[in-house]
Amino acid sequence: MNLRKGIVIGGALLTLVGLMSTPKLLFGSDQPRAKELIQQACVQCHRLEGQPDSRFNLRAPDLIWAGSKYKRTWLIGWLTGKEAPLYQKGYRWDLSEGAVKHPVVTETEANAIADYFDKNNKDPRVKVGAYDVTKVTKFEATFGGMAFKAHACLGCHTIEENGKLIGGQQSAALEKSGQRYNMDWLFRFGQNPQDFTPHSGEFLADATEPQLRAVLGFLAVQGAPDFKFYEPWTAPEFGKASVGRGKVIYKEYCMQCHGAAGKGDGPAAATIEPKPAIHANINFSEVPTEYLYNMVNHGGAAMGKSANMPYWGLTLGQQGVADVMAYLKANFKGPK
Ligand code: HEC
Ligand code: HEC
Ligand code: HEC
Repeated sequence: MNLRKGIVIGGALLTLVGLMSTPKLLFGSDQPRAKELIQQACVQCHRLEGQPDSRFNLRAPDLIWAGSKYKRTWLIGWLTGKEAPLYQKGYRWDLSEGAVKHPVVTETEANAIADYFDKNNKDPRVKVGAYDVTKVTKFEATFGGMAFKAHACLGCHTIEENGKLIGGQQSAALEKSGQRYNMDWLFRFGQNPQDFTPHSGEFLADATEPQLRAVLGFLAVQGAPDFKFYEPWTAPEFGKASVGRGKVIYKEYCMQCHGAAGKGDGPAAATIEPKPAIHANINFSEVPTEYLYNMVNHGGAAMGKSANMPYWGLTLGQQGVADVMAYLKANFKGPK
């Protein structure tokens, strides 16, 4: 027999069997039908309940918390076969199955499954609103990308950089993570991966919460070219910034290096290199707000400058940063 024909006929047969075993007509709001479909077409590989377990005891990633984990559009794309495999070497790379084509359902079925997960398989450990993705700044995402590399994440997960995939293919691909994850789930996962995937080769990073948030900011923009970054200098604090309060802050926190009149001659200045900037020589109205904000809030090291210029965000809070920036702009107009 012609081999090609055999495959085609086999394929047609499979489709037929598939059609017969799929419950007829699935409507979006048809929860019991969606549940039936999941029972028929998913549970032979995925667990929908139970305790976190090693991937070496599983056939496929757990869907126990599926109701909290995915963005709807991604989930539908995945289920209708529009997404690339997440595990290049196979989820069970120890069985060397390689990347596998995931079973595909129709658009209607995928929508019904997404509706089902809108209501079910919510993870009570995930706090809704724990991660506010509308507050991710460009600086944070960039810094998060550095932390991603510094904490070995790239060793096991791929990302895209300059149009190329880089990183280890040990675990889930993260190059489209911004399209894939519900950020609240990701935040809870990041606090302790072992609560979800113990004994799977996972890694618990020694990162502070702000670092974790920055890494997640980085992940939120992967595969999201139109991501809208938050601009902190548009916050209400900046609308009500006070030059008077900024002047006091300048005396209490900046003069020690930058000097009483901004001449770069404060008590700490003589013995540090490079010297503190001479504010008196700068026309601050012409300094881009983003640069000035990042310099004052995040400090010199974060901006590729001297680490002796402190990061003031924690000490002064956002109102303090806004006030001292207003003072810089009002008081220093550059050399006469
Ligand atoms: C033959 C086994 C099998 C069946 C049947 C199956 N899956 Fe999967 N599924 C997998 C494997 C393996 C992966 C990991 C895919 C990869 O390597 O990229 C996966 C991945 C997924 C993911 C992404 C998981 C994650 O967070 O990484 C979702 C969501 C999913 N499947 C949903 C379903 C649903 C819903 C069904 C039923 C309609 C289903 N799967 C049927 C094997 C299966
Ligand atoms: C030594 C390898 C390794 C390192 C290093 C590592 N991971 Fe993972 N990561 C894993 C494994 C294993 C899992 C569990 C999923 C699986 O079975 O592949 C996982 C899971 C994840 C998931 C959830 C994947 C999903 O869809 O279920 C995310 C997100 C993640 N890691 C991010 C990170 C970040 C961020 C870092 C750096 C702080 C990091 N990982 C470092 C191996 C690693
Ligand atoms: C411990 C010393 C120190 C203190 C205190 C300090 N700075 Fe600085 N600052 C520096 C140093 C050093 C530089 C120069 C960094 C370089 O050029 O690498 C600098 C540079 C700057 C710049 C960059 C100017 C430019 O043109 O790039 C700004 C803006 C600035 N400081 C504002 C402040 C403000 C506002 C305060 C108070 C809230 C402050 N600094 C307190 C040491 C300090």
